[in-house]
Amino acid sequence: MEKFQTFRREVDDHFYVLDQLKLPLTIEEIRINTIEDAWKVIKDMNVRGAPLIAVVATQGLRNELFNRDFKSVEELRKYVLQAVEYLRTSRPTAVNLQNDTERVRQTVIDFSLQQSVEEISQLQQLKQQLFQLIDSFNQQYIDACRQMSILGVDAIIKDFEEKHPEQAGQNAKLKVLTICNTGKLATPGDGTALGIVRELHRRGRLERLYIAETRPYNQGARLTASEAVLDKLPATLITDSMAGFLMQQGNIDFVVAGADRVAKNGDTANKIGTYTFAVLAKHHDVNFYVALPTQTIDENTLCGADIHIEQRPKNELTHVMGVQIAPTEIEVWNPSFDVTPSSLIKRIFHEGGEYECDRSQGNWKQMDAQSLK
Ligand code: MRU
Repeated sequence: MEKFQTFRREVDDHFYVLDQLKLPLTIEEIRINTIEDAWKVIKDMNVRGAPLIAVVATQGLRNELFNRDFKSVEELRKYVLQAVEYLRTSRPTAVNLQNDTERVRQTVIDFSLQQSVEEISQLQQLKQQLFQLIDSFNQQYIDACRQMSILGVDAIIKDFEEKHPEQAGQNAKLKVLTICNTGKLATPGDGTALGIVRELHRRGRLERLYIAETRPYNQGARLTASEAVLDKLPATLITDSMAGFLMQQGNIDFVVAGADRVAKNGDTANKIGTYTFAVLAKHHDVNFYVALPTQTIDENTLCGADIHIEQRPKNELTHVMGVQIAPTEIEVWNPSFDVTPSSLIKRIFHEGGEYECDRSQGNWKQMDAQSLK
């Protein structure tokens, strides 16, 4: 397989993203000039993954700020506030987009004009401040992935050795199941859940990575499998429906997933199918973990029942890579994500450690009943 670069900036207004819809067969880039270009590649899923969505949206905004001639700070402020609102409509569940654009929004709101300095130079100053902030998201995600991977692997190995004291200190290799794509194609850096897998491999402790194909969009088969091949990870592709049998046969030591939004009580929205794996893991006494940067935590959302779940178009289920596999007339239900109650999650890793939340609030059924009242 040919190597790829998820995104790159050439000069101030030349930003390119890899067209993930064409992977693994074709490596092709799309140039992003405007916020409309950024919105479209996010909506159409040429790029995806909670951190990457936020990076592409804010880099699209950076292009516009570079290219536009604003007459006053107020004009720039107005533009940014509108652009942020617009970009947020591209995909609703992944909260990184809301959180990172909130920092951009806050920067223009907080910027106060000084009477003694020419406005035009203050405009340039604000633009530079925004460029710096937007560019800093990249490094923040890289560092977050690295840190959560190291501390995640430490905790996972500790949990494993507590569960299997006979194997403690033996450098046992572990078998892991993951879903969707949480690697270099989903975030700057090595990845969240996939970062943990990579770190396990670096330490010589990965026996096998099982990759769920992740229907209907096949991010596992198309993207995670590509990353595994390029990095020469010992990896096996399965269909989503094989996960239960695999666990029943004792072939999974732990499951690790990423997240699109974690509610205050730890309920976690992630790719559709994640909840099923968490239930299966519970039944088979397999530890289930999630890993995310802190930008994925949404303390304004109390529990999973309050998370807005994106519905995707019908054709994503009736067609596979453009080939129709179901009758046109059939009705389709196609939620892009599901919610795993925090009670099913052993640990929630982020770059600063573990997300400590009140899991007694994490009873999905109880919350659901409340929200129906
Ligand atoms: O629909 P997608 O492909 O954007 O869904 C992506 C996921 O569900 C990922 O697990 C999540 O965004 C975390 S990526 C580090």
